[in-house]
Amino acid sequence: MTRVLSCIQPTGDVHLGNYLGALRNWVIGQHEKDAFHGIVDLHALTITDTPGVVGRSSLELAAMLFAVGLDPDVATVFVQSHVTEHSVLGWMMECTVSFGELSRMTQFKDKSAKREHDFVSAGLFTYPALQAADILLYDTDEVPVGEDQRQHVEITRDIALRFNHRFGDVFVLPKAVMPKAGARVMDLQDPTSKMSKSSGSDAGLINMLDEPSVILKKFKRAVTDSDTEVLFDREQKPGISNLLEILSACTGEAPEALAGTYTQYGPLKTDTGEAVIELLRPIQARYHELMTDRGELQSLLRKGAGKARTVAAATLARATTAVGMLPA
Ligand code: AMP
Ligand code: TRP
Repeated sequence: MTRVLSCIQPTGDVHLGNYLGALRNWVIGQHEKDAFHGIVDLHALTITDTPGVVGRSSLELAAMLFAVGLDPDVATVFVQSHVTEHSVLGWMMECTVSFGELSRMTQFKDKSAKREHDFVSAGLFTYPALQAADILLYDTDEVPVGEDQRQHVEITRDIALRFNHRFGDVFVLPKAVMPKAGARVMDLQDPTSKMSKSSGSDAGLINMLDEPSVILKKFKRAVTDSDTEVLFDREQKPGISNLLEILSACTGEAPEALAGTYTQYGPLKTDTGEAVIELLRPIQARYHELMTDRGELQSLLRKGAGKARTVAAATLARATTAVGMLPA
């Protein structure tokens, strides 16, 4: 069965864009492929400087992943640092990639430029080596990623090829695949930009854990377009089209068809807000239930880490044997 790996950093809250654009497809995908989902806390350390945050965020993210429907009996959901093979293979990957190659990573250039007055850790620079380890440890066939991560999958292939050339055929070459297109959710206050935790205002962003009254208020205040016609046209009418697309993602009806059922903006805003509230209601309930039993949540994660470790340990053993390191 095709093995697919997606990883997500435990930084910030999960929002409606993450859910409709990505997580919902992970839930469907777990029955189609052998799915591994890593909560990559070691990656989050590259920018962590406050004690106590990363662990709590990892637990909350895990609760959200299970709440949206990842099934611990089907998919392998694990926390990266619980599988220590990531760190060991990460170092081996650092020794297989060159300084020059890492220097060409556009994400490092962007992120380090943004942190101009902040601490830029060496981890931020070597991050793609750890990401290569994440991917290669699981003999991953497919890595569904957006444009911003393609370069990291490409460098993973280059590293794997170099390692295999030096030491023998150890790693499966992974492929970046376009994630199955989910909805593209735009900021409610600025419908020409993607809903995102890093940009935009809180008023434009629906957090998965927002209270129903907050959700409704945000939708009622959503920026719409200057005329009053309800049409699905992303170019000319980005605000209304965003609402239609969100409503469509909730109801399964086509946005063009939904547009025909409205003559005014007000009811569309209210209906979309209510549809989102209903969509999130069971997820929020499951999330809060899971968070009240942290012991159970941690035991689900231990189970995931156990499954992950079985695969990761075998791959790491192949790699150290191929290099000819002294067995312990
Ligand atoms: P991020 O943590 O922002 O990188 O988001 C994780 C994943 O969620 C991305 O790879 C996208 O697939 C998805 N995503 C994030 N924001 C949106 C959005 N506004 N609309 C649709 N999908 C999104
Ligand atoms: N670098 C990815 C991001 O910032 C997260 C990530 C870490 C990842 N390891 C991975 C994604 C392995 C896919 C596969 O979003």
